[in-house]
Amino acid sequence: MNDNLHQLRCFGCGTRVAGIDARPDFRCAECGDLFEVEYPGWGQRKGNDRPNAGALKWLWRERRCSSEALDHSGVWRFRELLPILDSFGNAVTLREGNTPLYHLPRAAKALGIDQLFAKHQGMNPTGSFKDTGMTAALSVAKERGFEWVACASTGNTSAAMAAYAARAGLRSLVLIPDGKIAWGKLSQAMDYGAVTCQLKTDFDGCVQVLTQVVKEARIYLLNSVNPYRLEGQKTPALEIAEALDWNVPDHLIVPGGNLANSSALGKGFREMKELGLVGRVPRISVIQAAGANPLVRSLAENHGASLEPVEAHTRATAIRIGNPASWRKAARVIEETGGFCLDVTEAEIAVAKAELGSEGLGCEPASAVTLAGLKKLRARGAVAASETVVLLLTGHTLKDADYTIDFHRGTLLKDEEKVGLEEKIESLRRNAQAVDATPEAVLAAVKGKVG
Ligand code: F0G
Repeated sequence: MNDNLHQLRCFGCGTRVAGIDARPDFRCAECGDLFEVEYPGWGQRKGNDRPNAGALKWLWRERRCSSEALDHSGVWRFRELLPILDSFGNAVTLREGNTPLYHLPRAAKALGIDQLFAKHQGMNPTGSFKDTGMTAALSVAKERGFEWVACASTGNTSAAMAAYAARAGLRSLVLIPDGKIAWGKLSQAMDYGAVTCQLKTDFDGCVQVLTQVVKEARIYLLNSVNPYRLEGQKTPALEIAEALDWNVPDHLIVPGGNLANSSALGKGFREMKELGLVGRVPRISVIQAAGANPLVRSLAENHGASLEPVEAHTRATAIRIGNPASWRKAARVIEETGGFCLDVTEAEIAVAKAELGSEGLGCEPASAVTLAGLKKLRARGAVAASETVVLLLTGHTLKDADYTIDFHRGTLLKDEEKVGLEEKIESLRRNAQAVDATPEAVLAAVKGKVG
């Protein structure tokens, strides 16, 4: 490993270790906290490793026209900012990243905001933002000679890990909570050949079991406690800035589950600023489901000094997490950027998802918390009309088709959950209708709706 280029720094006590010396559970031996990757060369004024901002912007854009597979990756295209491999020839890529930044004119108008965008990470090869992190961390696993990789997952991490492991010729082990993940995600892990274990526990229980497993067998842990995952997951921040001509949005809103992604994006923006690629960082806000909101509670009750795990319940199964590993990192990025942390109800999530769908942007329920959260922030006056806001959509709508169908059939939510939103929900529902196989019957179904 090129440890002169990168090292790991403990987020809690600041202890530094070489990448290869990290423990299998990626916890600091001194204080038990998590690590972040840092690049000491960037701090040295004339360090040879310090990249040149203008040249990099040019290079990264040029690479989009290159014929090299590595340049087609929206992660490795930015490889100067993630020098974590000895040889980039070891990178395992499925051409992840380079996801679209969509304008959301209807939602912007409804909210009275000038500029509202959705960065759709569901448009990655396995349908979620996890691919950007997985290409980075799995490449490290391959370079270090691991034969097995593993993760505990609410579904998307396992889908991504299994796919990248299969590409690299590695074996993968998936621990998932029994009955609590979307079928689309489970089917992916099977398709990509993972050993999939459904444990009779929740996500947090799966994490506990896996932490023991990786201490006893030579298996590389690919949960987001693995700091290399975050190096890949920071690259959407670069893509957002690039798409806005290196102007940073005022506000980035992300869903919160295990709470690593918010800090990865924060790191991306922070490093861009340190390297002179952009002039400032956006506010980063984290939105949780009301039934899985340990960070919201922690910040409200003790300003993030400690976190009390909760028993998590939400239909947005991707973020059904009660004891998030990276909560300190998320709390720090919210504080440093002046962001907010709030929760949204099941009905608010369902409405926001249907509204995004009606703009042609399907996403999975966990992603829709971002729009639901923005509505609340706007109503509170926390987001000004003149702000440029980016919602991070984390997963593809086909990941959890059952949820969408249940919403449109009217079977998703209980009456008591809908209170105050009944009309809104009815106006968004588009259930399939049984219609006779005649032109007259079809025309009758669209009567009054066609000109
Ligand atoms: N959105 C989706 C679609 C997710 O799958 C996840 C996490 C999140 C948001 C939350 O991101 O954990 O970084 O705060 N899914 C993990 C998994 C836990 O196993 O797939 P986070």
